[in-house]
Amino acid sequence: LGKQVTLLDRTTSTQEDARQLAEEGAPEGTLVISEEQTGGRGRMGRRFHSPRGKGIWMSLVLRPKQPLHLTQQLTLLTGVAVCRAIMKSAGIKTDIKWPNDILFQGKKVCGILLESATEDERVRYCVAGIGISANLKETDFPEELRDVATSIRMAGGKTINRTELIQTIMAEMEVLYELYNEQGFEPISSLWEALSGSIGREVRVQTMRDSFIGIATGLNKDGALLVRNNENETIPVYSGDILFNT
Ligand code: BTN
Repeated sequence: LGKQVTLLDRTTSTQEDARQLAEEGAPEGTLVISEEQTGGRGRMGRRFHSPRGKGIWMSLVLRPKQPLHLTQQLTLLTGVAVCRAIMKSAGIKTDIKWPNDILFQGKKVCGILLESATEDERVRYCVAGIGISANLKETDFPEELRDVATSIRMAGGKTINRTELIQTIMAEMEVLYELYNEQGFEPISSLWEALSGSIGREVRVQTMRDSFIGIATGLNKDGALLVRNNENETIPVYSGDILFNT
């Protein structure tokens, strides 16, 4: 993975560039990286702040064989890869907030956006978008993000080598993706649970339809978050957001 790289100076969103390359037949592992995004996108139609030169804004083309409802597993796999790579390359211990935020001491350092193109329930390709506020300073964040976001540089006190971190992420992705293709989701799920800051905590679950409070207990075999509510029922949460209650 990451053997074919397109490096851009400025783009709207690397998600769109990677999607276009995938449509043109680009092989699995094709990576698009940009110094700046003018229309960076997050989950649920949110904007993703991607200023020039200090972050890692990149999108990876994957061509998984799994059916559509299992692509959530790839979001979790990508989170594990990034979390491990940040530890290896920058020595910073982060954890994962379901499904896809990488946090340092409760503040977001990385967001992951996995998008799939389908045809009759079959996945044609996926684009895994990774956005890391690698070397941003506090003043590089807009005011409204300063309480909830941080960077690897702010966490560790020194500028990190972005190229090296990207290479480490690709190496981790490759190992985990191979493990996933050979042994399925179970080993990935265990790794994710060990890195998760969500398990065992009281969370507020916010889905399109409702909102409830419970204790996050683990993942099911699809990658949905299991949350035990006040009636002692365990609910699998397939999509949505969680907020920590305490
Ligand atoms: C989220 O936190 O909701 C996900 C953020 C994903 C951001 C990355 S940056 C590279 C790629 N291009 C985008 O427009 N978004 C993803």
